[in-house]
Amino acid sequence: MKVVDLRSDTFTKPSPEMWEMLKSLDNSHIGDDVFGEDPSVNKLEEKAAKIVGKETAVYVTSGTQANLVAMLSHTNRGEEILIEEQCHIYQNELSSATKIAELKVNLYSSNRGAPSIDELQNIIDKNRAKEQKITLLTSENTHNYHGGAIIKPEVLREMKQFADKNGLKFHLDGARVFNAAIGLGVNVTEITKHVDSLMFCLSKGLSCPVGSLVAGSKSFISEARKYRKMVGGGMRQAGIIASFGLVALEPKWIQRLEEDHKNAKLLAEGIASFNSSVKILNPDTNILIISVPEGIRIGKVVRTLGNEGVMAFNIDKHRIRFVTHYGINEDDIQYAIKKIGVVLKKLL
Ligand SMILES: Cc1ncc(COP(=O)(O)O)c(C=O)c1O
Repeated sequence: MKVVDLRSDTFTKPSPEMWEMLKSLDNSHIGDDVFGEDPSVNKLEEKAAKIVGKETAVYVTSGTQANLVAMLSHTNRGEEILIEEQCHIYQNELSSATKIAELKVNLYSSNRGAPSIDELQNIIDKNRAKEQKITLLTSENTHNYHGGAIIKPEVLREMKQFADKNGLKFHLDGARVFNAAIGLGVNVTEITKHVDSLMFCLSKGLSCPVGSLVAGSKSFISEARKYRKMVGGGMRQAGIIASFGLVALEPKWIQRLEEDHKNAKLLAEGIASFNSSVKILNPDTNILIISVPEGIRIGKVVRTLGNEGVMAFNIDKHRIRFVTHYGINEDDIQYAIKKIGVVLKKLL
């Protein structure tokens, strides 16, 4: 049976060019990265920093480790952070902010990731009255649980102004920041120039097997390197895996994300054409979220879809997430639409 796996862009496998690059590696391309002596990692970090317009960058094992290292580097134990209520750091990173970085978490609400600056200011003012110290603001772009929503540069600029005014650092979870840039048709620096630091993942739409980068000022990254070591992210001859990123950060490969965005739109239009009671959150990028009506058992919908060869995730009791990515083409999307139609007709 044909299977179209739309669970996540983390299921992507490397491109033929990436495999070719791997075959061309030898011992001259690797070294001990904990000592800063892996030429491939060094090359990747330089390339990444240049692309996102920051002084320098550090290669880490995962997006989760990247966010943790950034939080640890920007804050001191006992301080507080201001994060969006549906962000990945809060929802999926197993309380790393509180359990490891020992930060108190303050949540803000948002319109698909974009906050009200007044609400942010209220939170700060209330905390000041209690003599608590919020020192870090974060944002997520694109925003996963708001359906791959793009947070526009003007919103980020206002957030940065707010952060500066209140003495906060501003970190971006940019796991999919290149999707945001491609979706807006701007250079990624139009987004990243508004934050003090960011992380982005190679292992999602950019389809590398592993790895993320944290980027920012030299002093921030020097702290981040220490914390990377502390949380077990020193990987020695990491050039073998980091080299995939050198291919992934070529403009052509970043531009490829456009295909995923087109496919997500196609999928949304296909599902909308069924005229069912399903609600569709229009995708800005490569993530499509649909909501099924109350009373429908979402687990059963996802299971039935899986039995029909369309794999997706239920992110809560009402919402199902489909993610388009490298390896999924237009025919796969047409197939998925047909099968989703069959399942919705049967269950709704
Ligand atoms: C927005 C966002 N941030 C961070 C992460 C964490 O990345 P990783 O799975 O590499 O730890 C993810 C993973 O899906 C994500 O979607």
